[in-house]
Amino acid sequence: MAATAVIPTVSLWHSVVYNVMHVLPAYSRGLFTPNKFWTGLWDRLQPDPAAVKFVSRLRKKYHSDYLYIHVLTKKSLLVLDPDGIRHVLDHSPDIYADAKLKRKGMSHFQPDAVTISRGEAWRDRRRFNESVLDSGQALHRHADQFLDIINGETRHVLQSKQLKWSDWADLFDQITLQVIFGKGIRDNTSLQALRQLMRQSNRGFGLDKSSQFDAFYDNIQRRRESAPDTSLAGLCKHAPVTEVTKPDNQIPHWMFAMADTLAINTARALALITSHSEAEQAVREEMAATRLNTAAAVRSLTYLRGCVQEAMRLWPTTPTLVRETLQDDRLGGAPVAKGTQVLILNSFNHRDREQLDFADRFEPQRWQQGDSINYRFNHLSNGAQVCAGKELALFMATAVLAKLLATHRFALQRPMLDRRKPLPYLYNHFKLSFSIRPI
Ligand code: HEM
Repeated sequence: MAATAVIPTVSLWHSVVYNVMHVLPAYSRGLFTPNKFWTGLWDRLQPDPAAVKFVSRLRKKYHSDYLYIHVLTKKSLLVLDPDGIRHVLDHSPDIYADAKLKRKGMSHFQPDAVTISRGEAWRDRRRFNESVLDSGQALHRHADQFLDIINGETRHVLQSKQLKWSDWADLFDQITLQVIFGKGIRDNTSLQALRQLMRQSNRGFGLDKSSQFDAFYDNIQRRRESAPDTSLAGLCKHAPVTEVTKPDNQIPHWMFAMADTLAINTARALALITSHSEAEQAVREEMAATRLNTAAAVRSLTYLRGCVQEAMRLWPTTPTLVRETLQDDRLGGAPVAKGTQVLILNSFNHRDREQLDFADRFEPQRWQQGDSINYRFNHLSNGAQVCAGKELALFMATAVLAKLLATHRFALQRPMLDRRKPLPYLYNHFKLSFSIRPI
């Protein structure tokens, strides 16, 4: 079905339905940081099953894996074909660059961040990010120090009989501050300020410079300058920096990706493990066979790491990757004009029941073969702009879960997951609650 000489445009009615089912829920749930009220509301209404079926229907009706559809007033290209997705991501950001809405929204809290950069500036900032984050390395050079921070903070959670989202969020705030700015840093003013800026960005319009902006960046600069070498901020002085790099503007991405995105994904992985007894059994067997006292030992827990990847596949925290073509190109054999907005729908591709028999099941063992690159699954993206913190994020999530599960049992109290039914399309992390007891 993939190749087509002319890409069909869906009818106006189908565009309207798509906007109601996909665009409106995604916008109200929060483009840059999740909104508690709207996440709760859409979770109760559960529009996504219908939205996933709707995209399947469009694919069948128009006999194409490439569809032009209107997102509000902007004509956009939906790419459902894994080969097309590969082409887009392998040529990002050189041909497929950041889209206008993302650039506008993110510039409010992280102007000049790598993810909204193009051309030479992107290459420069990507080099800097990769150098600090040790991208592509199985273990970050300071992974043992990070493990020490994670174990120390996670221990506190285990003193309680219950674990709620607010406790979990605090845990990840404390881990994030120390991994980024150094052991013992606990003042979370900078994280609170960043979240405030991100909430403003969710609007997507009327984004004048915030009164908190300068104080936020002064704080980051001060913390970076005094950060020890064993922290990410401390590594900035050893990374390649030019006049275009802007190190302080790269740090907010690490902050929200760790304190918020990673926190959500790790919590969901715990919910999945504890509601699938055979998976929990496999996790416990894998852990029992390993002495978990080093970062390398945590890195060897490939099944547990697969649980984290699978949580991300099932509920991708980036539901859509959005790009804009910088030049004319071809996709699926058809011409695509410069200036086209291109959409990769993770929320659909990851749950495409017609192509994946395991779409709505928890199957962590699938990720054990070295996380083989598959352009259908882009919760951490793929290609040139693949998540620069991929290895670090997976390591940190695995380390937190290993520490929790090594000595305690968790029972999921809510939101409940029924393993006999297809897993829901949304999972409201704000409502999470577990009971805890020692083994
Ligand atoms: C579970 C946690 C995480 C998830 C699900 C995630 C996901 C993603 C995704 C989907 C992208 C591509 C976005 C796009 O192209 O539109 C991305 C990019 C990026 N991520 Fe992550 N990320 C996570 C954690 C982290 C962490 C902890 C860091 C840093 C400490 C990080 C650093 C980055 C950077 C710098 C980019 C931009 C890369 C570029 O544009 O060249 N991420 N991430």
